[in-house]
Amino acid sequence: MGYIGEREALPVLISSLKRLEYRGYDSCGLALLEDEIAVFKGRGRIEKLQQNLPPSPARIGIGHTRWATHGKPSKENAHPHLACNGRIAVVHNGVITNFQKLKERLLAEGHTFTSETDTEVIAHVIESYYRGDLLDAVARALKEISGSYAIAVISPGYDGIIVARNEIPLLIGVGEGEFIVASDVAGILEQTRRVIYLEDGDIGSISRGAVRIFNNGLPAERREQQVPWNIEEAQRGGYKHFMLKEIHEQPEMIDEMVKRYISATGVKFEPGLAGGTDFTDILLLACGTSYYAALAGEHILKKLGQIPVHAALSSEFNYSDTILRKTLAIAITQSGETADTIKALREAKKRGCPSLAITNVIGSSITRVADATFYLMAGPEISVAATKSFTAQLIALYLLALSLGKIDPAFQKKLADELRGLPQKVAMVLTEEEKIAKIGRYLAVCDNVFFIGRGLNLAIALEGALKFKEICYIHAEGYPAGELLHGPLALLNPMMPVIAIVAPDGTHDMTLTNIKEIKARGAPVIALAPEDDSEIEKYTDRVIRTPQVNSLFSPVTNTIVLQLLAYYTAQERGSPIDMPRHLAKTVTV
Ligand code: M6R
Repeated sequence: MGYIGEREALPVLISSLKRLEYRGYDSCGLALLEDEIAVFKGRGRIEKLQQNLPPSPARIGIGHTRWATHGKPSKENAHPHLACNGRIAVVHNGVITNFQKLKERLLAEGHTFTSETDTEVIAHVIESYYRGDLLDAVARALKEISGSYAIAVISPGYDGIIVARNEIPLLIGVGEGEFIVASDVAGILEQTRRVIYLEDGDIGSISRGAVRIFNNGLPAERREQQVPWNIEEAQRGGYKHFMLKEIHEQPEMIDEMVKRYISATGVKFEPGLAGGTDFTDILLLACGTSYYAALAGEHILKKLGQIPVHAALSSEFNYSDTILRKTLAIAITQSGETADTIKALREAKKRGCPSLAITNVIGSSITRVADATFYLMAGPEISVAATKSFTAQLIALYLLALSLGKIDPAFQKKLADELRGLPQKVAMVLTEEEKIAKIGRYLAVCDNVFFIGRGLNLAIALEGALKFKEICYIHAEGYPAGELLHGPLALLNPMMPVIAIVAPDGTHDMTLTNIKEIKARGAPVIALAPEDDSEIEKYTDRVIRTPQVNSLFSPVTNTIVLQLLAYYTAQERGSPIDMPRHLAKTVTV
């Protein structure tokens, strides 16, 4: 965060930092530019730091909320970091890869360090170049610094803020007589919706009334844009947690998506694929929850698009030697900033693939890497646990599959009609909230939970397990139901419930067989099954009924059930649902 304007900087920094906390929340701090620099920092959340802050007349300041990479979460390691003379303060997102070498040189030159972070070297390198011109010193310092960064720098010698970006998002909100620097739009929305996105290699000097941006030493033109989100969308709006709000937003969100791309005449999904549709296969690249959307997408695209598809974890893709010929590479990422996914898409492009990004965040880094972008338009997702973005990704993949036009037109029309009815089915799942919450309360005492699925719903079992790990802190494993007999069955006991996804498709009978095998080993079974599955109750301990949908769309309704289940289990356990320990919403490192 950074602020320069006519108002007191402190309250703006505090409220904007609170909105950026989902990006990291193990420690925080701020620096205010008065005659000298006043720094306040501490371990934990902004709210705690705020309690001990004296008022300040400063009109310029920078702030940071940290997700530790180098050095444990502590007051010393919290940003901002100062140079030896205390007159240069820096906040930084990213990783400085050559910090150790730089630190050794700086130590030899007599600099002293107070933290274990890589960031602190930035302040000292700038100091070593400072001859009265902060912009010049930052530009010279960055020539020596390798790695990824978004930085904001202040010094009493300069009535403004210097910012710079390389591979890490940074933007400047343009207000009335003020500028707000932030790592994403959530940090500026309360003040303004006008925004300038910085590009890699940009260095900006933000003074009163003017922003000047340079790239490679030359002035660079960066267009001002309007953020399509508003502050209400980024607020909890009466819900106890963002996660619950975001779960409840799904029927409307799906409805809007479907209406945007499906009309009475068919599916009009044109993601603007570079190179047209002349590709022989598809590679889906993603991490975490987005990877599970990719896994489901692999099934969906194979079935409806009738095309070879491979889903790969971005973090592993760079080690593979996959030969790509006429392959369309699709990166799926809510934030558009996941470092591994950006890197993987770059690699796929290097190997000659046309590329598409499916993302939720306008102006995010992935959109500058991909040849074309499809925006999910799911609205801001603040909860660290992804919910509505996952569902939006699934819908995008259905739309893409249907638009490939490889299936019989009558079948395509039937599916398109059913997609239009999906929001209503999702709303029906939400009416079961209290029943699901009750089962969540029962699960809250468990230390281990298994999730099983087959076929299209295997990805949903994996995603359900991820949610349980992430927000309930319960050890959870998602497993292909057919693989239980090959080892994991040995783990089962009466204290290890198995959540089984029973879909009305070719996987139904085999899943039922697996459920019987599990019951025979004494583990309780909770099944997710459609309303008309009359058999299921005989073999399970509890059943969560899901509305009747085409089995192809059952991943959507099942997902909503598992999101609610994770939410209520976490609530019963007293977890900090929106900001789980050790995590951050966007993994830019
Ligand atoms: O922004 P992305 O979709 O690229 O993020 C990928 C993962 O970090 C993300 O899905 C993560 O797994 C979620 N927090 C899980 O709920």
